[in-house]
Amino acid sequence: PKRVLTGITTTGTPHLGNYVGAIRPAIEASREDANESFYFLADYHALIKCQDPAAVQQSTKEIAATWLALGLDTNKAVFYRQSNIPQITELCWILSCICAKGLMNRAHAYKASVDANMAEGEDADKAITMGLFSYPVLMAADILMFGASHVPVGKDQIQHVEMARDMAQRFNHIYGNHSSILTLPDYVVDEHVAVLQGLDGRKMSKSYGNTIPLFLPEKQLKKHINKIKTNLLEPGEAKDPDSSTVFQIWQAFATADQTAAMRQAFAEGIAWGEAKKQLFELINAELAEARERYNDLMERPQDIEEQLQAGAAKARAISEPLMAEVRQAVGIARLL
Ligand code: TYM
Repeated sequence: PKRVLTGITTTGTPHLGNYVGAIRPAIEASREDANESFYFLADYHALIKCQDPAAVQQSTKEIAATWLALGLDTNKAVFYRQSNIPQITELCWILSCICAKGLMNRAHAYKASVDANMAEGEDADKAITMGLFSYPVLMAADILMFGASHVPVGKDQIQHVEMARDMAQRFNHIYGNHSSILTLPDYVVDEHVAVLQGLDGRKMSKSYGNTIPLFLPEKQLKKHINKIKTNLLEPGEAKDPDSSTVFQIWQAFATADQTAAMRQAFAEGIAWGEAKKQLFELINAELAEARERYNDLMERPQDIEEQLQAGAAKARAISEPLMAEVRQAVGIARLL
């Protein structure tokens, strides 16, 4: 069977980009009987960006409630919190010892921080922690610890999955003795909705502050959608769908027929206000029921915690035997 695994970092509130790029396809994949699914909250990754304990906790609660409200079946999928699986950080160290520093120098997140420092005339490594530098090693441990074969992610994460593959290959080469202890993962990117745009037309991202949070109350959702940047065309003037954020988000929620109809409406010069109103209705129809379940779950954190603990127990039943094999392969932890 396919083993599908993906995670979300527990900083901030889940947004439409996370939903379209990661959560929705992951929940769909978990419904296929041929798949085994592993979905988790990357809270150790959160510490790289956020040193506010209450904020990490709040985000963890929101993201967990989101998956559950959207109908993830935790009897079928293993749903857990990274920090409840100590074998992940254990494997992370072992991978650190076989991962070339030069590989990490090429990681996008680290390079972007270095470039930003240089642009400001600062020391290249200013405020860059070891956590940020070795972020892809921890992500590789997440993936390899569960023998994932398929990792559905947005485009920004492709490089990290490729790095995980490199590390698995290297580990097997050094320690595998002709067998594959670690499974080589492949990334899965849905080409239609790979990168959802935010309010300003750039990639929707917590770090750009341009997101539309997933479970905003209706009124607020409408307000946010009205803030999507558009060019200054009059009602009646033909609009170009392919350069429009409104259209791009429409596509991520619409059926093929609805997309064709909106394309036609753009050609006929639909007013921005009308297009946004229709976009609001489309998104709201998809999310309204889940929003109610979400609000309800947010009032019952003990239920969320129970689900996470049960998921962690299932996850550890898989990570510990593999970790025992890894320890043995590298010659640590026990003589016999
Ligand atoms: P994170 O938390 O930044 O994002 C979670 C997922 O959402 C996708 N995504 C988007 N997709 C489409 N359009 C957007 N605008 C958009 N913004 C975010 C991301 O590509 C990602 O799939 N390092 C990861 C979390 C992680 C992980 C893992 C993922 C940790 N370990 C192991 C897979 C496997 C991250 O920070 O994602």
